[in-house]
Formats: sequence, C-alpha cells, structure tokens
Amino acid sequence: MPSYRPINSRAPFIWHGGDYNPEQWPPEVWDEDVLLMQQAHFNIATIGVFSWVSLQPAEDSWTWGWLDRVIEKLATAGRNICLATPTAAQPAWMSQAYPDVLRADDRGRRVHHGGRTNYCPNSPNYRRLAVQIATKLAERYGDLPNLLLWHVSNEYATPCYCELCAQAFRGWLQQRYGSLDELNARWWTRFWSHTYTDWTQIEPPFADGERNIHGLTIDYRRFQSDALMECYKLERDAIRAITPNIPITTNFMGTFPHLDYRAWAQEVDVIAWDCYPWPKAYPGDIAFLHDLNRGLKDGQPFMLMEQTPSSQNWQPVNALKRPGILRLWSYLAVAHGADTVMYFQWRRGRGGSEKFHGAVVEHSGRNDTRVFREVSELGAELERLGDTTIGAMTPARVGVLFDWNNWWAIDAAVGPINPKNYVEFVRKHYAALWRKNVPIDIIFSDSDLGRYDLVIAPMLYLVKPGLAERIEQWVQSGGTFVATVFSGVADETDLAFEGYPGPFKQVLGIRVEEIDALYPEQHNQIVMADGSGSYSCANLCDIVYAEGAQVLATYGEDFYAGTPVVTENSFGQGRAYYIATDAEASFLDDFYGHLLEAQGITPLLPTPTGVEVTLRATEQRRLLFVLNHNAEATQVPLPEGQRFRDHLGAGPVGSTLDLPPYGVSILEVQE
Ligand code: GLA
Ligand code: ZN
Repeated sequence: MPSYRPINSRAPFIWHGGDYNPEQWPPEVWDEDVLLMQQAHFNIATIGVFSWVSLQPAEDSWTWGWLDRVIEKLATAGRNICLATPTAAQPAWMSQAYPDVLRADDRGRRVHHGGRTNYCPNSPNYRRLAVQIATKLAERYGDLPNLLLWHVSNEYATPCYCELCAQAFRGWLQQRYGSLDELNARWWTRFWSHTYTDWTQIEPPFADGERNIHGLTIDYRRFQSDALMECYKLERDAIRAITPNIPITTNFMGTFPHLDYRAWAQEVDVIAWDCYPWPKAYPGDIAFLHDLNRGLKDGQPFMLMEQTPSSQNWQPVNALKRPGILRLWSYLAVAHGADTVMYFQWRRGRGGSEKFHGAVVEHSGRNDTRVFREVSELGAELERLGDTTIGAMTPARVGVLFDWNNWWAIDAAVGPINPKNYVEFVRKHYAALWRKNVPIDIIFSDSDLGRYDLVIAPMLYLVKPGLAERIEQWVQSGGTFVATVFSGVADETDLAFEGYPGPFKQVLGIRVEEIDALYPEQHNQIVMADGSGSYSCANLCDIVYAEGAQVLATYGEDFYAGTPVVTENSFGQGRAYYIATDAEASFLDDFYGHLLEAQGITPLLPTPTGVEVTLRATEQRRLLFVLNHNAEATQVPLPEGQRFRDHLGAGPVGSTLDLPPYGVSILEVQE
C-alpha cells in the first residue's frame, strides 16, 4: 500500500496545535503562552489569522516588531509555525479609504465596515492590498526553519453582489457562453419574457431581482466561488514565488454551501478543514465530513485545522464536549485521514464575540483545568505515536458521490418539494454504509470510478457532461451503480432532460414518468418482491416504468401501488440499481448490506452498535482504528488467528478488545 508524504517533511508527525492570537494580549502573556504550549504538547501555532491592522495600522505604515518577537519566542521554545495571511478581515482604514473593498449584500446594498469576510472578491484594491501583505510576510518570514505551512486568509465565505462583481460576472459569462444567443438558450430565458438583448442587462440574482432563471442562479454561485478562489490564488502565487518549498493552504468548512471545494482542492497543497459538529452530532455525520475532505484530493491525508477543545459559541445551545469526547473526535479525524489535530483557539480572548468560545487556555489562565488537562494528555499521546499514522491511506472500494453544482441546482429548483435537503439525503445513504464498518470514499462528478466496485450517487439531479457515459462504461465493465429518486433531471445549466432519468435511462433500464411529493405526515411503503418484508418511505416518490430492469420492490400504497420502487438492471458485466424514493434507514441498511455482501466487501471488524472501525494503511502497516462512540464501556471480539498490537494501549491485546466509554484503540495487524 503506497503512502503519502508528510505535509512538510520537516515535521513527519501529527501536528498538535492551533490558532494563536498574541496580538490580543500584552507581551507579558506571551512568555506564559509558550511555557503553557510546551506543557500542552502544542507543537504548532497558527499565527496571523486576523492580524492585518496590527501589522499594517495605516496604508503606508508597517509594525512587524511584535510578530518578530512572538515568532522568536515560539522558535526558542521549539514550537513550529503555521503562518497565516490576515486577509479575512480588512482594517477599518481600508474600508474607509477604498469603499469598493466593502462587499454588497444580495440586494446590492454596500455593507458597512465590520465583521469578517466582508470584502468584495473582485475589488482591485482588496486584491492589491491582500497580495501586498502576503508578499511582505513571505519575504520577512519565509526562511524560518520552523515555518511549516502557509495558511492563506481564513474561511473564504461570503458572496458579493456589487457593481464590480456584476461587471466581472458578465465577462465570465461571455467566456463561458460566447454569445448572448447561446446564453439565452441555455438559460431558457424566453420564459416570462426574460430574454436578454444586451450583456449589460444581466444582473446578479438579487433577492429582489432575478431568481427565476436557475441557469443564472447556478452560474452566479460558480462565478463567486471562482472569484474568491482567484483571491486565494493571487496570494498563493505571490507567496509561492518567494517560498516554493513551503506548502500552502486555506481552511475549508465541510459542506459549506458557497464554495465548490472540489474545484478549490486543486489549488491547495493540502486540504485543511474546520470541524465544528453539534455536540450531539451523529458520529456517522462527522465521519462523512472527514471522508469528504479526504476525498477532495482523491485520498490524500488532510488537516484537522480547527476544532473546539470544549464548546462553540455560535450555536443556540453550546454544550461542552463531555470528558473523553475531545480525544475520541480527534482520533475520529485521524481515523478518516487527518494528519493533524488542531484547535480554535489557544487562549480565550477577553472581549469580542468569541469570548465564550472554547479555548485550550480559559480566562483563568490556569493549566490545571479539565480542558487543559485533556488537551495536554492528548498531545502527549499523539507525540508518542510519532509518525505511525502519517501519510497512511484508506483503501476504499465504495464511493458515495457528492457534487456542489448539484446541490446548488437542487436548492434553486422550485418544486416538487421544498426543501429537498440534498446534504442530509447524501448523509443518510453514507451513514447506512458507515454502519457496516467498511472504508468509504466521498467522490465527485469528475472522480476516477475505476477504483471502486460500488458507487452510490444519491439524488444526482444535475448531471455534468460526460459523467453518465463514464458511469455506463464503468458498469459495463463490472461496476455496481446505485441511483436514487430525483436523479438525471437536468443538465449543468439546469435545463431539464427530455425524460428522466436523462442520460442514466439506459444504464438503469427504467423510465420515470411522474414525481409525487408527500406531505410531512405522509408515507408510502417499499414492498419487497421476494416477500422479505416492507419498509416505509417518504418525501418524494418517482413513478417508474421498468424498461429492461428487474423490479425488486413495489410501492405499497396510493394510485401507484404495485409499480416499481426499487429496480436492478444488468448492464454488461455490472449492475445498476434505482431507489425511486426517500427510503427509511433500515431499508438502506438491508439494501446496502446485500450489495456489499454480493461484492465480497466485508466489515473491517464486526462490532457492537456505536463502535466504529476504520482502516489506514502504509507500506509498513495496517492500522485499524476502533472508536467507541458509546458513553458505556464495551467489548469487541477480535478475529481468531490474528495478532494485534494497540498503539494506544499499555498491554498486549487478547482475543477481546475492552474499550472504555468513548475509548479508542489503534490496532496494528501483526502478520
Ligand atoms: C471558524 C474560524 C475561527 C473561529 C471559529 C469559531 O472556524 O476560522 O476564526 O471564528 O470559527 O468556531
Ligand atoms: Zn463585489
């Protein structure tokens, strides 16, 4: 099993650290900080994330002294640095001097200065000043031996609807469509007399403007994602020219709606993401997000760039992570491909809106708090792991397809039911596979399918050019494909196919004639044709005609009772299934159970409920991560005839693995 290289070969171990904002504190605190960092086994500090005004208090004035001193203290204390450019929040002087820096909201109103990610990505002044400070940072600090990574800006996020953006959008559209006639055709603008007769008539999809042309809505989202990415690339290229050997990234936010991270992934050296699940999140949903991030670069290990050591502050109820959860969820990330465990934030600020956000060092400044202890113990344990897990990959035979453009199109579509909850729908299918303890990759419309035996594409409404052909070829040569309700409906500019499931008709061997939407309290039934039972289904029901496919189950109720709801089509050497509705979880558990069995894809270990197992492997070793998500102790019987070593345990591993509440083991299979 080949493995990946460490993020930076200077530090081939798990990075344990996080956001550090020394500019919020007087210098006396800095000495205490580095001392505490040593105690917490904090081996990397992310600095500079919001330091713009502290470094450039006016356009022509620079104040590097404080950062020089902080960096020196970190270096003397043997800490590494992840150096951020501060461009996520522009200083007040900049908004004042150059109003075009301020973005406009979805009614085109210029926002006031404040907050963060409040700039226009197409503002020439923003771009110029952002590149300038990125360049200066690289020139000044690029040679530091303990500089491991560049962190460009922070959580790119907010779309803009200003006149500069509108102009740039028109240029973007001209590139994409060539002519106005083509654009009008692809956007179906004869509808409601919306035909454009001049490029200048095209406006962003304002909240009080054009929201009925979905080609426009989706293209504007593509354009804004691209524009923010352009800002990232400008800073990155400036830095790369000065420090070609230091990796560069920016931090993502999981299933964040506004950015197509699959497109962004090509531009970063390593995927980094900020993981803030609800305190009561279903672990399968967190696992999904980690797998998504590992998938963005086709399996390359990623960074857990931020997580809270204790609580968040921006949810309605910000419960503390219970003792043990921080450790469990940190290993959950590592189990799914993270090579770092990092936090927001190091020391809790005394003012501002994040003073109730969890931090390693609380307001009391003490090192004997529960959180500090948990962080330090975890840090020590990660240190002992050394490079054991670094670069290890996850060999998955199952792929679940996710696509941002598809999400945008589904959200824009008016009817047949609203909301359609695409992300939740994908997670539901993923979770059924996750409960089987098999490695899963999240894949995308442009992923190489050849690596997989089983591919599931939940609610793939928008089909990008070429995808259906690639799926056909792959099924032809033996792949197993699963599509679901509301799939194969529209092309990439949201023009409906003439008959659903569009380009998947052939491979699925079916035709969808109508789509029924169910009221929240309504259900239908999935009645298995082999007499094995029935399941409930809800929300959307496609009315399907089999055209070559075999009917595995039929609807139990309503005027379409007895018509197909689950079908199977033999196609070449492979098979393609259609689930024509939103099936209850137990259906998915059973259905995917059979498919996995048929493929010979077996659980890594059979475990009690709530115990997860993942695999990471290198050339040297196979590591099974066993994670007990239960608040109770549990036991996992281990396969006979195999010997294991637990990298987190003290003694030898017997025939049963004893896991304490929220316990974790990393078992190395001894050949
Ligand atoms: C994000 C940001 C951090 C901080 C946290 C709080 O992830 O990147 O600066 O605001 O949220 O949860
Ligand atoms: Zn703008």
